[in-house]
Amino acid sequence: MAKIVILTGAGISAESGLGTFRDKDGLWTRYDLNEVATPQGFARNPGLVHDFYNARRANAAVAHPNAAHHALARLQAALPGQVQIITQNVDDLHEQAGSTDVWHMHGRLARARCASCNHRWDAPAVMAVQHPCPACTAPKTRPDIVWFGEYPFHMDDIEQALSQADLFVAIGTSGNVYPAAGFVQMANLAGADSLELNLEPSQTITDFAQARHGPASNIVPAWVEEILSGR
Ligand code: OAD
Repeated sequence: MAKIVILTGAGISAESGLGTFRDKDGLWTRYDLNEVATPQGFARNPGLVHDFYNARRANAAVAHPNAAHHALARLQAALPGQVQIITQNVDDLHEQAGSTDVWHMHGRLARARCASCNHRWDAPAVMAVQHPCPACTAPKTRPDIVWFGEYPFHMDDIEQALSQADLFVAIGTSGNVYPAAGFVQMANLAGADSLELNLEPSQTITDFAQARHGPASNIVPAWVEEILSGR
């Protein structure tokens, strides 16, 4: 079981050119999350929701992992079976950097889901609700993304990993969205050490035993080097 449990958010992909949600010019300053990231918004206007995620899929398709993603992949490779990455991100930059078994708790842009029968398949670059489900043919295609009001993926595995962690690290996440924002408290209850690596203090900074602030591409590789050199 993993000893180091790492939660990543939009901040780790910011230097790869993918926008965050809540920073100045973040996605939620330009889009109404109630319209593009809720089941109710999808029911009202599926075309608008698909336009939003099609644009994000196009951005993600030309993004490359940065030094922070690569450093985490290096850590995972150096400590086999001891590093679990949980991400709120819907891009696949961790996988592109070489990380394995990443738990995408908010889903993935790369996957499509049938809103009728729950079948999942690889998403084309451009999705539309009327694309028939390959399994049941219903014209109810949606992104395989967890929206507000929906239950995140992998929660049983995540709770188990947190309950057995020695160290919990949150990287590039503002601490605004639960349940992810509560993971540090779950890890604390289990007796783990905790570390925040973020551009600036997050909403949950007071829950962390330690924190370092700066761009992920600097502070994540520096932290990984410390772990691997035993400092
Ligand atoms: P946010 O946009 O809320 O927070 C991003 C965090 O990254 C902020 O605290 C920034 O200070 C920090 N940051 C920005 N640039 C950085 C950099 N170069 N290096 C390090 N940190 C940096 O994004 P999340 O916390 O990931 O959910 O948002 C959580 C969830 O809210 C998302 O998964 C998404 C969103 O609504 C859904 O859509 C369901």
